[in-house]
Amino acid sequence: MSLKNIYFVANWKMHGSINSSHLVKKIRNFSNKNAKLGKSKIILCVPYLFISLFKNILKNSSIKLGAQNVSNVPEDYGAYTGSISPRMLKDAGIKYIILGHSELREKGENNNSIKKKIGNSVKSNLNIILCVGESYSTYKTKKSIKFIKSQLQVLTKKTIKNTIIAYEPIWSIGTGKIPSEQYLNKTFDYLTQYCKKKYSLKPKILYGGSVNENNINVLKNIYNCSGFLIGGASLKYKSFTNLIKNYYK
Ligand code: 13P
Repeated sequence: MSLKNIYFVANWKMHGSINSSHLVKKIRNFSNKNAKLGKSKIILCVPYLFISLFKNILKNSSIKLGAQNVSNVPEDYGAYTGSISPRMLKDAGIKYIILGHSELREKGENNNSIKKKIGNSVKSNLNIILCVGESYSTYKTKKSIKFIKSQLQVLTKKTIKNTIIAYEPIWSIGTGKIPSEQYLNKTFDYLTQYCKKKYSLKPKILYGGSVNENNINVLKNIYNCSGFLIGGASLKYKSFTNLIKNYYK
Protein backbone atom coordinates (compact mmCIF):
# COMPACT_ATOMS: atom_id res chain seq x y z
CA MET A 1 0.00 0.00 0.00
CA SER A 2 1.30 3.37 -0.98
CA LEU A 3 1.29 5.94 1.79
CA LYS A 4 1.77 8.80 -0.61
CA ASN A 5 0.43 12.11 0.59
CA ILE A 6 -2.84 12.23 -1.32
CA TYR A 7 -5.55 14.89 -1.26
CA PHE A 8 -9.19 13.88 -1.13
CA VAL A 9 -11.04 17.17 -1.53
CA ALA A 10 -14.81 17.14 -1.17
CA ASN A 11 -16.64 19.85 -3.07
CA TRP A 12 -20.11 19.88 -1.58
CA LYS A 13 -21.33 22.61 -3.96
CA MET A 14 -24.86 23.75 -2.92
CA HIS A 15 -25.54 20.73 -0.72
CA GLY A 16 -25.80 20.08 2.99
CA SER A 17 -27.85 21.09 5.99
CA ILE A 18 -27.43 21.36 9.74
CA ASN A 19 -28.03 17.58 9.78
CA SER A 20 -24.87 17.07 7.74
CA SER A 21 -22.99 17.36 11.03
CA HIS A 22 -23.74 13.61 11.39
CA LEU A 23 -21.94 12.94 8.12
CA VAL A 24 -18.99 15.12 9.12
CA LYS A 25 -18.70 13.31 12.48
CA LYS A 26 -18.67 9.94 10.69
CA ILE A 27 -15.99 11.08 8.23
CA ARG A 28 -13.95 12.45 11.17
CA ASN A 29 -14.23 9.12 12.99
CA PHE A 30 -13.25 7.25 9.84
CA SER A 31 -10.19 9.46 9.42
CA ASN A 32 -9.18 9.17 13.10
CA LYS A 33 -9.58 5.36 13.14
CA ASN A 34 -7.62 4.72 9.98
CA ALA A 35 -4.09 5.51 11.01
CA LYS A 36 -2.87 4.20 7.67
CA LEU A 37 -4.73 7.05 6.05
CA GLY A 38 -2.83 9.47 8.22
CA LYS A 39 -0.90 10.67 5.24
CA SER A 40 -4.04 11.49 3.30
CA LYS A 41 -5.28 15.03 3.34
CA ILE A 42 -9.04 15.13 3.58
CA ILE A 43 -10.47 18.58 2.90
CA LEU A 44 -14.17 19.36 3.08
CA CYS A 45 -15.17 22.40 0.99
CA VAL A 46 -18.60 23.25 2.31
CA PRO A 47 -21.15 26.09 2.02
CA TYR A 48 -20.23 29.11 4.20
CA LEU A 49 -23.20 28.47 6.46
CA PHE A 50 -21.73 25.31 7.95
CA ILE A 51 -18.13 26.37 8.49
CA SER A 52 -18.41 27.21 12.20
CA LEU A 53 -20.49 24.16 13.00
CA PHE A 54 -18.11 21.78 11.22
CA LYS A 55 -15.01 23.48 12.56
CA ASN A 56 -16.13 22.55 16.03
CA ILE A 57 -16.73 18.93 15.01
CA LEU A 58 -13.31 18.70 13.35
CA LYS A 59 -11.25 20.31 16.11
CA ASN A 60 -9.48 17.05 17.07
CA SER A 61 -9.01 15.83 13.55
CA SER A 62 -6.57 16.24 10.68
CA ILE A 63 -9.45 17.04 8.31
CA LYS A 64 -9.32 20.62 7.04
CA LEU A 65 -12.13 22.89 5.92
CA GLY A 66 -12.34 24.71 2.61
CA ALA A 67 -14.70 27.21 1.01
CA GLN A 68 -16.01 27.34 -2.55
CA ASN A 69 -15.69 31.00 -3.48
CA VAL A 70 -14.74 34.42 -2.09
CA SER A 71 -15.19 38.10 -2.89
CA ASN A 72 -12.79 39.67 -5.40
CA VAL A 73 -12.49 43.06 -3.68
CA PRO A 74 -9.17 43.77 -1.93
CA GLU A 75 -10.63 44.94 1.39
CA ASP A 76 -11.02 42.64 4.39
CA TYR A 77 -14.27 44.39 5.39
CA GLY A 78 -16.53 46.92 3.70
CA ALA A 79 -19.84 47.85 2.14
CA TYR A 80 -20.16 44.84 -0.17
CA THR A 81 -23.55 43.33 0.46
CA GLY A 82 -23.59 39.56 0.42
CA SER A 83 -19.80 39.20 0.11
CA ILE A 84 -17.30 37.23 2.17
CA SER A 85 -13.60 38.20 2.22
CA PRO A 86 -10.60 35.84 2.43
CA ARG A 87 -9.80 37.35 5.83
CA MET A 88 -13.26 36.40 7.13
CA LEU A 89 -12.79 32.86 5.85
CA LYS A 90 -9.37 32.60 7.44
CA ASP A 91 -10.73 33.82 10.79
CA ALA A 92 -13.55 31.27 10.57
CA GLY A 93 -11.04 28.41 10.27
CA ILE A 94 -10.88 27.92 6.50
CA LYS A 95 -7.57 26.67 5.11
CA TYR A 96 -8.38 26.06 1.44
CA ILE A 97 -10.47 27.77 -1.17
CA ILE A 98 -11.72 26.45 -4.50
CA LEU A 99 -11.45 29.12 -7.21
CA GLY A 100 -12.19 29.10 -10.92
CA HIS A 101 -14.68 26.25 -10.81
CA SER A 102 -16.32 25.77 -14.21
CA GLU A 103 -19.76 26.14 -12.66
CA LEU A 104 -18.81 29.72 -11.69
CA ARG A 105 -16.99 30.43 -14.94
CA GLU A 106 -20.22 29.47 -16.70
CA LYS A 107 -21.98 32.20 -14.70
CA GLY A 108 -19.50 34.87 -15.84
CA GLU A 109 -16.45 34.38 -13.61
CA ASN A 110 -13.38 35.33 -15.66
CA ASN A 111 -9.60 35.16 -15.39
CA ASN A 112 -9.38 38.79 -14.28
CA SER A 113 -11.64 38.22 -11.29
CA ILE A 114 -10.10 34.82 -10.47
CA LYS A 115 -6.63 36.40 -10.44
CA LYS A 116 -7.80 39.04 -7.94
CA LYS A 117 -9.39 36.38 -5.73
CA ILE A 118 -6.21 34.32 -5.77
CA GLY A 119 -4.03 37.33 -4.86
CA ASN A 120 -6.33 38.40 -2.02
CA SER A 121 -6.65 34.84 -0.71
CA VAL A 122 -2.90 34.28 -0.69
CA LYS A 123 -2.50 37.53 1.27
CA SER A 124 -4.78 36.01 3.89
CA ASN A 125 -2.70 32.81 3.89
CA LEU A 126 -5.33 30.62 2.29
CA ASN A 127 -4.36 27.75 0.03
CA ILE A 128 -5.89 27.87 -3.42
CA ILE A 129 -7.41 25.00 -5.33
CA LEU A 130 -7.52 26.43 -8.86
CA CYS A 131 -9.87 24.59 -11.23
CA VAL A 132 -8.99 24.41 -14.91
CA GLY A 133 -10.44 22.25 -17.64
CA GLU A 134 -11.91 22.28 -21.11
CA SER A 135 -15.39 21.82 -22.57
CA TYR A 136 -16.29 18.82 -24.70
CA SER A 137 -16.01 20.77 -27.96
CA THR A 138 -12.55 22.05 -27.01
CA TYR A 139 -11.57 18.48 -26.16
CA LYS A 140 -12.97 17.14 -29.42
CA THR A 141 -11.16 19.74 -31.51
CA LYS A 142 -7.90 18.97 -29.68
CA LYS A 143 -7.55 22.48 -28.28
CA SER A 144 -7.46 21.47 -24.61
CA ILE A 145 -3.84 22.30 -23.89
CA LYS A 146 -4.08 25.77 -25.42
CA PHE A 147 -7.27 26.40 -23.44
CA ILE A 148 -5.83 25.18 -20.13
CA LYS A 149 -2.74 27.31 -20.70
CA SER A 150 -4.96 30.39 -20.99
CA GLN A 151 -6.58 29.51 -17.66
CA LEU A 152 -3.19 29.17 -15.96
CA GLN A 153 -2.43 32.83 -16.70
CA VAL A 154 -4.14 33.79 -13.42
CA LEU A 155 -1.12 32.45 -11.50
CA THR A 156 2.06 34.32 -10.62
CA LYS A 157 5.45 33.32 -9.26
CA LYS A 158 4.18 34.26 -5.80
CA THR A 159 0.69 32.72 -5.88
CA ILE A 160 1.64 29.39 -7.47
CA LYS A 161 3.40 28.50 -4.21
CA ASN A 162 0.05 28.42 -2.38
CA THR A 163 -1.84 26.81 -5.25
CA ILE A 164 -2.98 23.29 -6.01
CA ILE A 165 -4.18 22.92 -9.59
CA ALA A 166 -7.34 20.85 -10.08
CA TYR A 167 -7.77 19.56 -13.62
CA GLU A 168 -11.52 19.11 -14.14
CA PRO A 169 -12.64 18.57 -17.73
CA ILE A 170 -16.10 20.14 -17.88
CA TRP A 171 -17.43 17.20 -19.89
CA SER A 172 -16.53 14.90 -17.06
CA ILE A 173 -18.23 16.79 -14.22
CA GLY A 174 -21.38 15.01 -13.09
CA THR A 175 -21.55 12.90 -16.26
CA GLY A 176 -20.02 9.62 -15.13
CA LYS A 177 -17.46 9.95 -17.96
CA ILE A 178 -13.74 10.14 -17.30
CA PRO A 179 -10.95 10.78 -19.82
CA SER A 180 -8.68 7.91 -20.85
CA GLU A 181 -5.61 7.19 -18.76
CA GLN A 182 -3.43 8.14 -21.70
CA TYR A 183 -5.15 11.51 -22.12
CA LEU A 184 -4.91 12.22 -18.40
CA ASN A 185 -1.23 11.34 -18.27
CA LYS A 186 -0.58 13.66 -21.20
CA THR A 187 -2.49 16.53 -19.59
CA PHE A 188 -0.89 16.06 -16.17
CA ASP A 189 2.49 15.93 -17.82
CA TYR A 190 1.77 19.20 -19.61
CA LEU A 191 0.68 20.90 -16.37
CA THR A 192 3.75 19.61 -14.54
CA GLN A 193 6.18 20.71 -17.25
CA TYR A 194 4.48 24.10 -17.60
CA CYS A 195 4.97 24.89 -13.89
CA LYS A 196 8.49 23.50 -13.81
CA LYS A 197 9.50 25.60 -16.76
CA LYS A 198 7.70 28.80 -15.79
CA TYR A 199 8.03 28.70 -12.00
CA SER A 200 10.78 26.15 -11.34
CA LEU A 201 8.54 24.09 -9.11
CA LYS A 202 6.67 20.82 -9.29
CA PRO A 203 2.98 21.60 -8.83
CA LYS A 204 0.41 19.60 -6.91
CA ILE A 205 -2.29 18.59 -9.38
CA LEU A 206 -5.65 17.00 -8.60
CA TYR A 207 -8.06 15.31 -10.94
CA GLY A 208 -11.79 16.12 -10.69
CA GLY A 209 -14.82 14.94 -12.64
CA SER A 210 -17.02 11.92 -11.81
CA VAL A 211 -14.47 10.43 -9.40
CA ASN A 212 -16.07 7.51 -7.56
CA GLU A 213 -15.27 4.36 -5.60
CA ASN A 214 -15.16 2.26 -8.81
CA ASN A 215 -13.09 4.37 -11.17
CA ILE A 216 -10.58 5.38 -8.47
CA ASN A 217 -8.71 2.15 -9.32
CA VAL A 218 -8.01 3.57 -12.77
CA LEU A 219 -7.57 7.20 -11.70
CA LYS A 220 -4.98 6.35 -9.08
CA ASN A 221 -2.61 5.42 -11.91
CA ILE A 222 -2.42 8.96 -13.26
CA TYR A 223 1.18 9.93 -13.22
CA ASN A 224 1.97 13.13 -11.23
CA CYS A 225 -1.49 13.18 -9.64
CA SER A 226 -1.58 14.42 -6.04
CA GLY A 227 -5.23 13.61 -5.37
CA PHE A 228 -8.83 14.21 -6.29
CA LEU A 229 -11.56 16.84 -6.23
CA ILE A 230 -14.79 15.01 -5.60
CA GLY A 231 -18.34 16.27 -6.11
CA GLY A 232 -21.28 13.85 -5.96
CA ALA A 233 -19.35 10.98 -4.37
CA SER A 234 -18.35 13.19 -1.42
CA LEU A 235 -21.93 13.70 -0.27
CA LYS A 236 -22.48 10.24 1.22
CA TYR A 237 -20.43 8.49 3.86
CA LYS A 238 -20.09 5.16 2.04
CA SER A 239 -19.21 6.52 -1.38
CA PHE A 240 -16.66 8.98 0.02
CA THR A 241 -14.92 6.61 2.42
CA ASN A 242 -15.01 3.62 0.02
CA LEU A 243 -13.34 5.82 -2.57
CA ILE A 244 -10.55 6.62 -0.10
CA LYS A 245 -10.23 2.99 0.99
CA ASN A 246 -10.12 1.78 -2.61
CA TYR A 247 -7.35 4.20 -3.42
CA TYR A 248 -5.15 2.41 -0.87
CA LYS A 249 -6.14 -1.16 -1.87
P1 13P B 1 -18.56 15.33 -9.69
O1 13P B 1 -17.59 14.51 -8.90
O2 13P B 1 -19.96 15.28 -9.16
O3 13P B 1 -18.47 15.00 -11.16
O4 13P B 1 -18.14 16.86 -9.54
C1 13P B 1 -16.83 17.21 -9.78
C2 13P B 1 -16.61 18.60 -9.39
O5 13P B 1 -17.11 19.53 -10.00
C3 13P B 1 -15.79 18.85 -8.20
O6 13P B 1 -15.41 20.19 -8.15
